[in-house]
Amino acid sequence: MLIETVEALIMRLLMLSKGQLISYPREAQKLSNITWPGGEVEKPRGWVIATTEKPLIIGFPKRVGFSEFATDLNYNHSAQGYCIDLFDEVRKLVPYEIPFRFEPFGDGLKNPNYDELVRLVADGVFDAAVGDIAITTNRIKLVDFTQPFCATGLVVVAPIVNSTSSGWVFVKPFTLEMWFSFSTLFKANYENPISTLGRIVMVVWLFLLLVITSSYTASLSSILTVQQLSTCITGIDSLISSGLPVGYQEGSFAYSYLKNNLNIHASRLISLGSLEEYESALRRGPKNGGVAAIVDETPYVELFLSTQTDFGILGLPFTRSAWGFAFRKDSPLAGDMSTAILKLTESGQLQKIKKKWFCKSGCSDERGRKPEPKQLNLSSFWALYSLCGTFALMAFFLFLIRAIRQYIRYKSRQMDPSSPTSSISSSILFSQAIHNFLKFIDEKEEAIKKMFAQPAIPPTQARA
Ligand code: SER
Repeated sequence: MLIETVEALIMRLLMLSKGQLISYPREAQKLSNITWPGGEVEKPRGWVIATTEKPLIIGFPKRVGFSEFATDLNYNHSAQGYCIDLFDEVRKLVPYEIPFRFEPFGDGLKNPNYDELVRLVADGVFDAAVGDIAITTNRIKLVDFTQPFCATGLVVVAPIVNSTSSGWVFVKPFTLEMWFSFSTLFKANYENPISTLGRIVMVVWLFLLLVITSSYTASLSSILTVQQLSTCITGIDSLISSGLPVGYQEGSFAYSYLKNNLNIHASRLISLGSLEEYESALRRGPKNGGVAAIVDETPYVELFLSTQTDFGILGLPFTRSAWGFAFRKDSPLAGDMSTAILKLTESGQLQKIKKKWFCKSGCSDERGRKPEPKQLNLSSFWALYSLCGTFALMAFFLFLIRAIRQYIRYKSRQMDPSSPTSSISSSILFSQAIHNFLKFIDEKEEAIKKMFAQPAIPPTQARA
């Protein structure tokens, strides 16, 4: 140690004697630009993962349906979509350059198989894969995933009944038999019970009325507010045991999950590729070659439900998963990208990108679905209004017919058949008749009845 120090001191003195350690003022130093390894003149932000000559090849799914997530623009073969935008933002936060080239994966006719995309990364065909790639047990054995950028889970989607739009919703609380006996409930009891037994019967009857009326109100409220299922399927368990066809997204891991983990026979699984196919399969139903329900990840389902009101999610997600970017095993990029994803999440930028793609016309809750206004509109009551209108019109016409008949009878009693035909014009006669008729129907029914009760006056007497 001491010898080393002495040696260094001697060297220093020797160099000083040769004038080599003369220090210049900073301004006098003429330093040229630094050329970094690889010929770069710009200061590197870290180590080089790839070079411009040999960029990273990043595969992305060339989606056909749900192309908002990731696909390529056919005319210039560039990648676009929610996951692509996200990747662009994430790589800006990595402290070094990542020269890369996007490579689409898929034939452009159907959605690509995501398991194959991940396998291509593991096999070295792609250096990484960017897209809506679910982190599953099988895939994580092959590649390294970044931290998740989107939480997902499998859910069941099935047709539901939108009660508020049905005009006949008010008849639903009671069965047909109840409606037949319902008229007795409106029977007014004007007579006061005299005996104690009568009063007891009356109290029980009023109590019955009270219970039935409140039950009707409660049942109607629940029909209007709680989502009503239109099939026997209430969740994944009833779907499995139903034996009915189940839809899944083409290319998704959902197929192998339903087949291998939930033991649903492959013949029951129907592949669906787009929002339109989802809608048509659910509308047709199992009887017409459609499906009873669809099992898919929440982001796709939320996108689908943002335009549909006749379908809904049954229960909660029955698996928990997430999406991440896939890198080759032990790639240093996966860790740096994960840090960048976390930074992006914390800054709120991740949410902004999501909104840009999925809330174009506004979405106010986390599910991307506009909250359904639980308001009752005119269509909820059209049947009631129509019933009221029909009964009112029928009553009016019956009254009119009865009044005209009574008026004719009244006039025929008053008229003297021997009197000469009046020379007054027919229009005046008609308006007089209308006037008299209206006056006639103004009279109390009792008075009319009384008048008919009197014997008819012979026309000769009437003249006298
Ligand atoms: N997210 C799905 C998957 O990773 C594709 O739809 O398999």
